[in-house]
Amino acid sequence: MDSRPAVVVLLCLMGFTCAELVKFIDCGSTSGKVATVDINPCASQPCQLHRGDSYSVNVTFNSGVESQTSTAVVHGIVAGVPIPFAIPIVDGCKSGIQCPIQKQQTCHYQTALPVKAEYPAIKVVVEWELRDDNKQDLFCIKFPVQIV
Ligand SMILES: *[C@@H]1O[C@H](CO)[C@@H](O)[C@H](O)[C@H]1NC(C)=O
Repeated sequence: MDSRPAVVVLLCLMGFTCAELVKFIDCGSTSGKVATVDINPCASQPCQLHRGDSYSVNVTFNSGVESQTSTAVVHGIVAGVPIPFAIPIVDGCKSGIQCPIQKQQTCHYQTALPVKAEYPAIKVVVEWELRDDNKQDLFCIKFPVQIV
């Protein structure tokens, strides 16, 4: 009998790394194509983000262009209104991406999403963009989260 699946479940229950693939909507990735979005930890969806905790985000995408730079822009959409959301590092080239980005390169964008204690406990749609040299989106993804 193969006991590996049971071991994985056990490790997850113990709080070990088990990133969840997040269901997202593509909001116009014009110069790239998104493969997967992981948020860790995220046991169920929408991801529950606890105030005061930090989460790791890992977006895997394929670039359709060459670009020297990559810059993240994050918004939280509350009641239809996009509100700028501060992340510690906006430079994608300092977030796991090897720059300059080559055409057809598979990139792993990895960064931290700190959830401040003063945020309201609401459901919010996160809109995360990564812009290339020409301010085109290497990716634009949207996913709901629940702040608790
Ligand atoms: C990010 O996701 C990709 C694709 O699932 C994976 O290959 C890579 O190891 C992940 N990186 C981290 C730090 O989890």
